[in-house]
Amino acid sequence: MHDNDLSAVVAADKAHVWHHLTQHKAFENADPRMIIEGKGMRVWDQTGKEYLDGLSGGVWTVNVGYGREEIAKAVYDQLIKLNYFAGAAGTIPGALFAEKLLTKMPGLDRVYYANSGSEANEKAFKMVRQIAHKRYGGKKHKILYRDRDYHGTTIGTLSAGGQQQRNAQYGPFAPGFVAVPHCLEYRAAEQGAPVENYGEWAAEQIEKVILQEGPDTVGALCLEPITAGGGVITPPKGYWDKVQEICKKYSVLLHIDEVVCGVGRTGTWFGYQQYGVQPDFVTMAKGVASGYAAISCMVTTDAVFDMFKDDSDDPMNYFRDISTFGGCTAGPAAALENMRIIEDEGLLENTVAMGDYMMGRFDELKDKYDIVGETRGKGLFAGIELVTDKASRTPLDEKLVMGVVGSCGTEGVMIGATNRSVPGYNNTLTFSPALIATKDDIDQIVAAVDNGLSKVAL
Ligand SMILES: Cc1ncc(COP(=O)(O)O)c(C=O)c1O
Repeated sequence: MHDNDLSAVVAADKAHVWHHLTQHKAFENADPRMIIEGKGMRVWDQTGKEYLDGLSGGVWTVNVGYGREEIAKAVYDQLIKLNYFAGAAGTIPGALFAEKLLTKMPGLDRVYYANSGSEANEKAFKMVRQIAHKRYGGKKHKILYRDRDYHGTTIGTLSAGGQQQRNAQYGPFAPGFVAVPHCLEYRAAEQGAPVENYGEWAAEQIEKVILQEGPDTVGALCLEPITAGGGVITPPKGYWDKVQEICKKYSVLLHIDEVVCGVGRTGTWFGYQQYGVQPDFVTMAKGVASGYAAISCMVTTDAVFDMFKDDSDDPMNYFRDISTFGGCTAGPAAALENMRIIEDEGLLENTVAMGDYMMGRFDELKDKYDIVGETRGKGLFAGIELVTDKASRTPLDEKLVMGVVGSCGTEGVMIGATNRSVPGYNNTLTFSPALIATKDDIDQIVAAVDNGLSKVAL
């Protein structure tokens, strides 16, 4: 794609950049990968090698695909008009995007801007804590999170982190965060769960924790609608209805982390909308502007919002929080255009159709290979859990799982795998192609995975 000699930038990267989630020893004898250009579903590295991106930018982000001139133009126009002003003031794109976003989220009323998924989650956590202080003498402050879920990289969000390998060596963590069990039905036997009504059972485990802790101490429950990096765990039947019921019963605010599922990934605007849930907080980041600008949003109800303005004589009675870059206008300008593209190009419909197609093709791989234990997903968001054999369900060795990822990469197809997340269970291949994916793109991904599996199948 590109003709320039990039050896100088590769050398600069190698000498000076500390890559995310990367052990750098290997780069003493090899170059790190650099991604130079992208168009549609494809990217090119520094050697000119083309890849079909099955992950939307490595971490399920570039939902509308690369090279969108309309978004670049909208951001350019906004930046030369007004690039920034602190979020204590409003801006045109901030107001317009909030209005548009809320049309997709019935029952929710207010948008708080920040610039990363972790930060948006922190905002909700802080609101829960402040509500506890304002209403419950500080007592109802505990935040429940679920085993295998991930909510971000800061110490606060790691305190709500259900992935032991993400957390290891970064403690001590903040107090007042309490784990509840995961809801992966495929592993139900290992949890000692009954065979019948697993969804209800898994939700009841949350109730047990609430009762153990004391309902008057539990302020919120924070869950991913579908656990992403913890194994693409789609919720079992009956789970969400029961979860909602439990939250209502104990006045526990429901915080749904849509950082991955938000803005189209599963074929509805938000993942929670697949399950008929009505949350109190929704956080989102990655797909909001498809990575064309940094933006995250914490969205909540008027009921929550009103608690922060009910006593204007009290100088402490408002949300005393700021995100400097939450005032960047590029984010909402890009997000508005991103949403317009999803609507105009019918990308939710495409996500449903191509998601079904992708799951069907993955099920063919499940029939073909004993090492494919389970295929899970919703829309263009899927996981394939690899095992030594279907009967034992023993997780496939992580090196072999990464072997499949590597084999796909050699063929020019980028896929992912759960990685340094849950000890012993980093065995799920992950997929999140852009919402523009075609059947041909899916076929190319499936062919590469098929080939990769054939190399590691025992
Ligand atoms: C579900 C979920 N929540 C939160 C985050 C954190 O987002 P960020 O990296 O933008 O802080 C992530 C990132 O992968 C995520 O997957």
